[in-house]
Amino acid sequence: MNSRLILATITSVIGLTFSTASLAWLEGGGEREEAMDLKPDLENGMDVYEVCSGCHLPEGWGKDDGTFPQLAGQHAAVLIKQLADIREGNRDNPTMYPFALPRAIGGAQALADVVAYTQKLPMTPVNGKGEWAKGTPEFEQGKKLYKVNCVECHGENGEGSAEKFYPKIQGQHYKYMMRQFEWIRDGKRRNANPDMVKQIKGFSNKDMQMVINYVSRIPVPKKDLAPSADWTNPDFD
Ligand code: HEC
Ligand code: HEC
Repeated sequence: MNSRLILATITSVIGLTFSTASLAWLEGGGEREEAMDLKPDLENGMDVYEVCSGCHLPEGWGKDDGTFPQLAGQHAAVLIKQLADIREGNRDNPTMYPFALPRAIGGAQALADVVAYTQKLPMTPVNGKGEWAKGTPEFEQGKKLYKVNCVECHGENGEGSAEKFYPKIQGQHYKYMMRQFEWIRDGKRRNANPDMVKQIKGFSNKDMQMVINYVSRIPVPKKDLAPSADWTNPDFD
């Protein structure tokens, strides 16, 4: 092989590597794009949500022990992406997988409907938090880490971005976020954004605890919260 041919081969291999990395994160076409274009039916969303409520609870609050994430208030677009990724085998979730399949709940329309429903649910006023209160050195260090490494994507207050598929992380449970953050850092969550992976590669476990502690304590705007921790979802009385 002459050197020019070798160079061309190397370039095309590198190009391929880059495109598979971004493919795994935000693949064009597929169920995500299909569901994003559909007009959601909230009534059907409520019906679909019944099976989900077994784990994510009728209020969509998940659990503060981190087993189930809060879905209430999360951007519909973010959840569509996650559900499509899980159904396409791009993010592992063996506990939930059988309940999320098309034969269990329906096709792209069911995805559009159920996330439109959960997006409207008020969020828990008592999400699980890390151990360090405001004013402790660990809280302050976590805040610094957040400003430098996370604001660019997740926003000043952890509000995320629907258009860019960046999750809202304010009000999410500490233990759930710890698991996801670690999986993203260590490459276990295969659908993760490659730029986030790069950004947090150097995080020690203590850095991770401090930054997630801070995130878990970012106040959620009152308008997005349920009136009290005793609120129950009247749709599932
Ligand atoms: C048997 C329990 C179970 C059921 C039923 C279930 N889930 Fe889940 N779900 C989970 C678990 C566990 C996770 C977190 C997995 C992880 O840690 O990666 C999860 C995660 C998710 C996520 C990812 C959230 C995020 O922030 O990235 C979405 C979206 C979701 N579920 C939606 C649904 C919907 C919609 C339904 C109903 C069609 C449903 N789930 C039914 C257990 C369940
Ligand atoms: C380049 C943009 C980017 C940066 C920087 C970034 N993230 Fe993310 N983050 C994302 C995206 C996109 C996802 C969702 C990945 C996916 O689609 O599976 C995510 C997912 C998460 C999740 C899981 C949320 C869930 O609901 O499952 C947590 C927690 C998180 N990020 C925290 C952080 C923290 C803390 C920082 C800073 C230390 C950070 N991220 C930096 C883009 C970013």
